[in-house]
Amino acid sequence: MSQSFFTLVEDRIRQVEALMRSEALQYHPDLQSVLAYLLSSGGKRIRPVVTLLSGDMLGADNEKLMNLAAAVELLHTATLVHDDLIDGAMLRRGIPTLNTRWSPAATVLAGDYIFARAAGFAAATQKVQLMTVFAETLATIVSGEITQLFTSRGKACRDDYYKRIYAKTASLFKASTYCAALVSPVDDAVVAAMDSFGYEIGMAFQIVDDILDFTGEQTRVGKPVASDLRQGLVTLPAIYYAEAHPEDADMQQVLNGDYRDGVGMDRLVSAIRASGAIREAMNEAREFIDRGLAAIADLPDNTEHRALEELAFYIVDREI
Ligand code: IPE
Ligand code: IPE
Ligand code: MG
Ligand code: MG
Repeated sequence: MSQSFFTLVEDRIRQVEALMRSEALQYHPDLQSVLAYLLSSGGKRIRPVVTLLSGDMLGADNEKLMNLAAAVELLHTATLVHDDLIDGAMLRRGIPTLNTRWSPAATVLAGDYIFARAAGFAAATQKVQLMTVFAETLATIVSGEITQLFTSRGKACRDDYYKRIYAKTASLFKASTYCAALVSPVDDAVVAAMDSFGYEIGMAFQIVDDILDFTGEQTRVGKPVASDLRQGLVTLPAIYYAEAHPEDADMQQVLNGDYRDGVGMDRLVSAIRASGAIREAMNEAREFIDRGLAAIADLPDNTEHRALEELAFYIVDREI
């Protein structure tokens, strides 16, 4: 990432990476190498960047903030390890997932290990309230994954969709900004504002992720185009399309639970890509961003505040 909001915290992001990677010699060496493999595969580090900028804007205690940033990114990393196993995904960040190289059992355990490391960094902040938020966020993410596993296929329901993207993505963004405020010398109103900010940009982030699933090139995004719909997951672009084209037979078939790959699916994906649904979903993401920025408009007017605004716009303008 070359954006200036990233440059502002780049050195400390490298330090957060060093923290996440720090040796724990008492554990099995393969756990350490797996962690190194995952961390070296890149990733945008958007959550720790949001965390550091939020805390810096509010004058956070730097050591607590660094531990929080490491905790947040490790929690994210662990959910990806388990998610890729659950989804049977072969590629993540353009390189083979852990589950293509390790057995399911070992992959589950590697994910557990990373969760444990995340909890350790959360505890290092010595803030019980922060650990509570952490525990609740993980429970929310897991609950969302279970819901998706059991019920969400072939359904074009907006309410379900918003609940789903809150659970899988916005909850962690919200925890990041909320906890950054918790380790800062600020009052409850500021903590609440940061909570809203994280929620809104997190919702936007996932909507854009869902748009990129349709519009992105496989080589850039690192996974097949429309992988969600091909698994029966109806995301916002498809919801808009279904609302505008109730007669579309290919769409009806998906909504009836038949989302087999084939000519019909390819036709539907092309139709959604070419339709106004992408733009409508993008407009909605921009509305979330606008609400997020409004929530923090009265907070300190400093470099980090400007950087958070830039980051918020990056969320909707990004290509990966
Ligand atoms: C991917 O998150 C999973 C979602 C919750 C959308 P990111 O897009 O932040 O993934 P990395 O960390 O940059 O690879
Ligand atoms: C990301 O969800 C995993 C969690 C946040 C639990 P997705 O399944 O949408 O992420 P990608 O599309 O694999 O990156
Ligand atoms: Mg997935
Ligand atoms: Mg996705």
